[in-house]
Amino acid sequence: MKSLILYFSASGNTKKVAATIADAVCAAGTQPDIVQITEGLEIDFDAYDLVFLGAPSIQWIPPEPVCKYLKAEMDRARHGVRPIGAPRKPGKFGVVFCTFSGVHTGLNEGLVAGKYLGQFFEHMGFWVLDEWYVPGRFRGWEEGSRVGKLGDISNRPNAEDLRGVAIRTAEVMQTLVAR
Ligand SMILES: Cc1cc2nc3c(=O)[nH]c(=O)nc-3n(C[C@H](O)[C@H](O)[C@H](O)COP(=O)(O)O)c2cc1C
Repeated sequence: MKSLILYFSASGNTKKVAATIADAVCAAGTQPDIVQITEGLEIDFDAYDLVFLGAPSIQWIPPEPVCKYLKAEMDRARHGVRPIGAPRKPGKFGVVFCTFSGVHTGLNEGLVAGKYLGQFFEHMGFWVLDEWYVPGRFRGWEEGSRVGKLGDISNRPNAEDLRGVAIRTAEVMQTLVAR
């Protein structure tokens, strides 16, 4: 099985989650590709059976470089998108991961960004296996990181958050290997 971990991270929180996923994929016996979203990136999604796609929530949607990149991929793939129904491709799976601070409204601030990433998968024909939402320190807003709706998140993602990600990744790998 060929897997890809594709992510964007401005202040390192999402990168930590991506690295944890990578370690857990390796522990399951396969070597993933790990790619950071940058301008001009092009990925051959058909080359992968499993893609982990991660981004932070910035003003409750993915950051602009991520939206721009996903739009460009969609434009390249447009010929494969059928007008009616999702163009589901057999054996192609995606997992969404999103880090967020939830200072004002909690989990809802991550959900919109995560759903946005999930819709990319569905339009590309990938079955969304799961969505993971991980609290992360709001860099540059220390008060928000201490007293927001999620409480003190100034050290998150912490070891427990990352342990949870590792366990979920192991579950995904087990599920796919057992197919
Ligand atoms: C400019 C800016 C806007 C943000 N907007 C939101 C937001 O609307 N909702 C939220 O939950 N977190 C928000 N955050 C917090 C980030 O989602 C959070 O810190 C995330 O873990 C950052 O990931 P990164 O370190 O991988 O870049 C914002 C952070 C920045 C810097």
